[in-house]
Amino acid sequence: MDHNIYSGTADYLVSDDLRNAVNIAMALGRPLLIKGEPGTGKTMLANSIAQALGMPFIIWNIKSTTKAQEGLYVYDTVQRLYDSQFGENDVSDIKRYIKLGKLGEAFSSERQSVLLIDEVDKADLEFPNDLLWELDIMNFYIPETGETITARQRPVVVITSNAEKELPDAFLRRCIFHYISFPDEEMLASIVKVHFPELEPNLLAEAMKAFYWVRSLPGLLKKPSTSELLDWVQALVVGGIHPEKIVSEIPFLGVILKKNQDFDQVLKRIHSAGGVQRQTGWTAGKKYL
Ligand SMILES: Nc1ncnc2c1ncn2[C@@H]1O[C@H](COP(=O)(O)OP(=O)(O)O)[C@@H](O)[C@H]1O
Ligand SMILES: [Mg+2]
Repeated sequence: MDHNIYSGTADYLVSDDLRNAVNIAMALGRPLLIKGEPGTGKTMLANSIAQALGMPFIIWNIKSTTKAQEGLYVYDTVQRLYDSQFGENDVSDIKRYIKLGKLGEAFSSERQSVLLIDEVDKADLEFPNDLLWELDIMNFYIPETGETITARQRPVVVITSNAEKELPDAFLRRCIFHYISFPDEEMLASIVKVHFPELEPNLLAEAMKAFYWVRSLPGLLKKPSTSELLDWVQALVVGGIHPEKIVSEIPFLGVILKKNQDFDQVLKRIHSAGGVQRQTGWTAGKKYL
């Protein structure tokens, strides 16, 4: 039985539901699958769990070409061939050419670790299923050396997905699932304060208003999320922008919107209606009305 209890860290705020999901996954020894829009704190969650529990943090970034096997080990035949022709190494020692992958690293770690399998939906559909067996039994065999790598302690496995693709049912069944929904205003303001403790309250309030207005616009190709807001607040601070100008002018719009079409749509609205206030009836900055 695992007695680790997670309750967030100073730099990462968790909702009650998310905290419960983390603790249940650890207690049951199941992978925790986290879905949500990009920028909602999925990657940071795994980092925060490792920090809170004082565990080594192992990150496996998944790409479209990643294969499950690479997470276990790779046999570097090219290096071995090279050494057999030009090197002085003993090429009969195959162990030298076996490189553990991230799963292999997590299994063989002396201490229990947090293993983040980040953006699992980037890989092909077979990928999650191919990992199931090893994640279940927590060991794998290396035929080249006759070795079996067995987890000393079951790592805390966090798997994230931006929901670009649906994941296979067999995989979903084995995971504890949590969807990080976009934070409400109160939570988002708290997250900003975690990153900018000295932020002027008026600037925060105006930035939040403008941000939620942009997010509410219909037809955006990419809604801005927490990470864009954090970057934007930083830009507003560094740029010395007066809070009164934030809502009417939305300076540094390119920090929030990354798609040309979204950018143009918002610019048009700002210019044609003389600022955000007129369209939304916000009372702040009356002089712009
Ligand atoms: N709950 C939270 N508490 C503190 N910071 C957060 C939280 N959620 C998101 N962030 C911040 O937002 C940014 C994006 O988070 P990240 O984990 O990279 O998102 P994702 O992996 O979901 O795309 C990071 O700078 C992170 O610190
Ligand atoms: Mg991420």
